Amino acid sequence: ELGEHRHYMHKEIFEQPQSVIDTLQGRISGDSVLVSAFGHQAEEIFSKIEQVQIIACGTSYHAGLVAKYWFEDIIGMPCLVEVASEYRYRNPVIRPNTLLLTISQSGETADTLAALRSAKATQADLASLTICNVPESSLTRESDLVFLTHAGPEIGVASTKAFTTQLVALALFLTAMGRVQNRLSTGREKAIVAGLQKLPSLIQSALQHEAVIKDIAQQFADKGSALFLGRGTMYPIAMEGALKLKEISYIHAEAYPAGELKHGPLALIDDTIPVIAIAPKDELLEKLKSNLQEVKARGGQMIVFEDEDSNVNTDGDDLNVIKATTNVGRITAPITFNIPLQLLSYHVALIKGTDVDQPRNLAKSVTVE
Ligand code: F6R
Repeated sequence: ELGEHRHYMHKEIFEQPQSVIDTLQGRISGDSVLVSAFGHQAEEIFSKIEQVQIIACGTSYHAGLVAKYWFEDIIGMPCLVEVASEYRYRNPVIRPNTLLLTISQSGETADTLAALRSAKATQADLASLTICNVPESSLTRESDLVFLTHAGPEIGVASTKAFTTQLVALALFLTAMGRVQNRLSTGREKAIVAGLQKLPSLIQSALQHEAVIKDIAQQFADKGSALFLGRGTMYPIAMEGALKLKEISYIHAEAYPAGELKHGPLALIDDTIPVIAIAPKDELLEKLKSNLQEVKARGGQMIVFEDEDSNVNTDGDDLNVIKATTNVGRITAPITFNIPLQLLSYHVALIKGTDVDQPRNLAKSVTVE
């Protein structure tokens, strides 16, 4: 079943181009996203929505955080994101015409399910959508609208292909919502669809960097801690990179929005802590570069994932700069830049000799709180 792969996680990382193809399949017609892919009531429900509240846990929560940037930036719709275990025990103020969106690989995560139930108990007519990988799961049964990610079964405890397809689903959702509410020009929609269709090959190219990343992973063998930095959507991608490293290699890792460095974590930096920066060529790149200068000035050991045009290493120092991808856009960038981070934690875990597919203390489906 594993074929040429040593672990399910590795197999699932390499299945991602196909998982994206499968998730897009049947959801697009010509240059536009099919609203009906979200259910036959989708058009009617979407037309009334004024705000999206995303609820999820762990990796699925990180997908939600990326989507918040997209929602507000691309279609100008307010979007709130919260971890389910917090949401369910607060008394959240739910504004009228909110769509409650749960994101879950398993569809059985106890906190996510409880958050959905308690929100519905507070507001009986609350509309709900779930983006889920398991048909016939509790979340799909209890939500008004269902969008299935077609990642296929995910066996490795660390979520990889499910996350990628959740992001694809979220991009389709925001495009559908944008069209129903006239918040998106046809040109913009066309560009998003074209970007999504290019994703399998972008992911394929990112996967080709495995050998370089395997080399870089050596530097982590004796490290106790690592810091991941990003700005914009790369901040949640940094969080996801840090989570993956923690859970499978047992190295403490934290993510920070790069602009927060000088508000505390800069005090940590010395030559013993690897700093991983995610640096696509976007409007925040110059800001990120000056944050990286601050790290460099303190002797931090930097590993930069950039694209063909980022040119982070302009002064020729021996930074670890990995050209992780090329030609990425707003939607495709976070999805593509996550791939080398998955490979990095996988190879660090191999070096550390941990149980990659079954990390200690963790379960694939967290059905108790
Ligand atoms: C991390 C991971 C977990 C899950 C979380 C939510 O790699 O897999 O953080 O993302 O337990 O699970 P689902 O998505 O099934 O609700």
